Amino acid sequence: MSPTLHAQAHGRQLPSGAWPHIATKRPFVATLRDGSRVQIRPVREDDSSRLAEGLRRLSPRSRYFRFHRHVDELSDANVRYLTDLDQRRHVAWGAVALDESGEPGIGVARYVRDRAAPHRAELAVTVVDDYQRIGLGRLLLDTLMLSALESGVVELTAHVLPENTAAIRLFERAGAQSCGLHGGVLTLVIPIASPERTTRLSGALTALPPAPEARTR
Ligand SMILES: CC(C)(COP(=O)(O)OP(=O)(O)OC[C@H]1O[C@@H](n2cnc3c(N)ncnc32)[C@H](O)[C@@H]1OP(=O)(O)O)[C@@H](O)C(=O)NCCC(=O)NCCS
Repeated sequence: MSPTLHAQAHGRQLPSGAWPHIATKRPFVATLRDGSRVQIRPVREDDSSRLAEGLRRLSPRSRYFRFHRHVDELSDANVRYLTDLDQRRHVAWGAVALDESGEPGIGVARYVRDRAAPHRAELAVTVVDDYQRIGLGRLLLDTLMLSALESGVVELTAHVLPENTAAIRLFERAGAQSCGLHGGVLTLVIPIASPERTTRLSGALTALPPAPEARTR
């Protein structure tokens, strides 16, 4: 296991007991640094209105950082693409605010595997501005990394605008290495683990007892 995953796996960020939930793609509950409770679960087809509403809650700057262009709203086709997932090639975990009425979507982390090299995938993480800087981005990224590891993905790539300090620091803290700037976009690669280690870790994941609720720190 990489040192980063090792540290994360031992409770630095994820609630203890989250692993079996991630391995079997079941929801779990966590508490963020400000005390708000979130449910982390795979994105579902019926999340389309949550996703569209979440986009409306994003500042123009956050939207620009996410899509690398100005986006006011997503087309129905885009919303469908982002929510109607097979959870194998295109995997996404979302965060739902349990303390807000209607339990809105407040963050999402996804990866899409490369068709030619399915052990590689491209990732994106987004947290609505009201919930930034309280650990949700890292929680979603850790969840996605463990989900990737469980599914045999060994490398996650992120394309980030160079002025997006938050994303660069988030990914670097997860072990990302820079692969340079191409066309004004920075490519960061997060190594996950070797396939042998993935096999061993899958066993560890399922062996852990479920503990649906715990603090992130
Ligand atoms: C990048 C993003 C997902 C981070 O989410 P977040 O919930 O705020 O992140 P966290 O609170 O878990 O912070 C994790 C680490 O990221 C770094 N970080 C986050 N926000 C930061 C900021 N504004 N400035 C500097 N570092 C920052 C810090 O190292 C932080 O760790 P710390 O809190 O222990 O210092 C969020 O800012 C976002 O959604 N941005 C818009 C979309 C985007 O840019 N996505 C990435 C491209 S795919």
